[in-house]
Amino acid sequence: DKPLRIAIAGLGTVGTGVIRLLETNRDLLTARAGREIEVTAVSARDRNRNRGVDLSRYAWEDDMTALAAREDVDLVVELVGGSDGPALALARASLGAGKHFVTANKAMIAHHGIALAKTAEAHEAALKFEAAVAGGIPVVKGLREGTSANALERIYGILNGTCNYILSKMEDTGADFGEILAEAQAKGFAEADPTFDIQGIDAAHKLAILAAIGFGARIDFDAVRTTGITQVKAADIAQADALGFVIRLIAMADTETGEDGRTRLLQRVRPCLVPKDHPLASVDGPTNAVVAEGNFSGRLLFQGAGAGDGPTASAVVADIIDIAREEIGAPFSIPVAGLEPMPPVEPGHRMERTY
Ligand code: HSE
Repeated sequence: DKPLRIAIAGLGTVGTGVIRLLETNRDLLTARAGREIEVTAVSARDRNRNRGVDLSRYAWEDDMTALAAREDVDLVVELVGGSDGPALALARASLGAGKHFVTANKAMIAHHGIALAKTAEAHEAALKFEAAVAGGIPVVKGLREGTSANALERIYGILNGTCNYILSKMEDTGADFGEILAEAQAKGFAEADPTFDIQGIDAAHKLAILAAIGFGARIDFDAVRTTGITQVKAADIAQADALGFVIRLIAMADTETGEDGRTRLLQRVRPCLVPKDHPLASVDGPTNAVVAEGNFSGRLLFQGAGAGDGPTASAVVADIIDIAREEIGAPFSIPVAGLEPMPPVEPGHRMERTY
C-alpha cells in the first residue's frame, strides 16, 4: 500500500513528541497501520529553534495554511492551538481540500466542531481529535466506540491537570495557590494563558466535547456552567479534609427530563467535595480521570496522563493509525446531520447531587 503522507503544523512539545513517536515506533506503527506513515512537510512559528529532532528531511512551509494545498500531503496534523486564527484557517482549508485532519485543539473543537465536522463529511475526510481531551487517555474513542451500545447516565471527571495539580499540592503542602501555579507552568502542563486552566475554561472545552459524543448532542460550549478554582483557599481544603473530603475540579454532564417531557443536557465545571473513598479522590497531580456510567456497561473509569508530549503524541498517532487503516468514522458518535441541540437547563437550576 502507498504510504500515508502527513504534514505537521506546530512543533512545540506535542509536535516534536509526535515526530519522536513516529520514529521510535516506526516498525510497529507500519504493522498496525498496514502501511508506512511518512511525514512530508512541517510548519511552525520559528524555523530555527532547536527542538532536538531532525527536520531536514521534511519540506518547510512558513505559512502553515499552505500545508493544506500540498499534493504530497494526505493528512494534516494541527498542534498549534487557539480556537480561531491560524488553527481554524488550517482546519477549514485542509478539510475543504479533502485532506484528513487530526488535532489536539480542544478550544477549536468546542467552538467549531460541528461546522468542521460538516466540512469533513462533505469532503469525505476524517476529522479526529482524541488528543483534545485528556491527553493520552483514549476517552473520545472510549465514549464513541466503547460505550456506543449504552444510554449514558452521566459522564464526570477531572479534565484539567493544572487545577488537579494545584489542588492536590495545596492539600499536601498547605502552600498558596500562586506558588503552585508557577510550578505547573514550569512543568509545562498549564496552558499558554493559564487563566483558561484556573477558571475552568479548559475543562469546559473538554467537557463540551465529551458530552456531545456521549449523549449524541450538538456541542454547546456556552451551555457549560463554569466555575474555576481561583476562590479555593487553603482553609477550605483543610476543612474539607477534616470532614473526610478532598476538593477537586469536577466536570460533569448528565441529562434530565423535565415535566414538559424534554430532555436537557446539564453540563457543569466546578470545584466539588469528593469523599476520600471515591476513586476520583486519589487522582493526584496532573493526572486526568473520566467516569462514564452506561445503562449496561455500569461505571467505567478512564485514568491517565492528561497532558505532556508522550501521552498527547500517543493519542495523536492513534488517530493517524485509524486513518491509515481507512477507519475514517464520523467525528462525533452520530453523523452531524442527526445531531440535535439539547435544550440547556433553565437559569437558576442547581445540581443537588454530590460526588
Ligand atoms: N492545560 C491542560 C491541563 C493541558 O492542565 O490539563 C492539557 O489539555
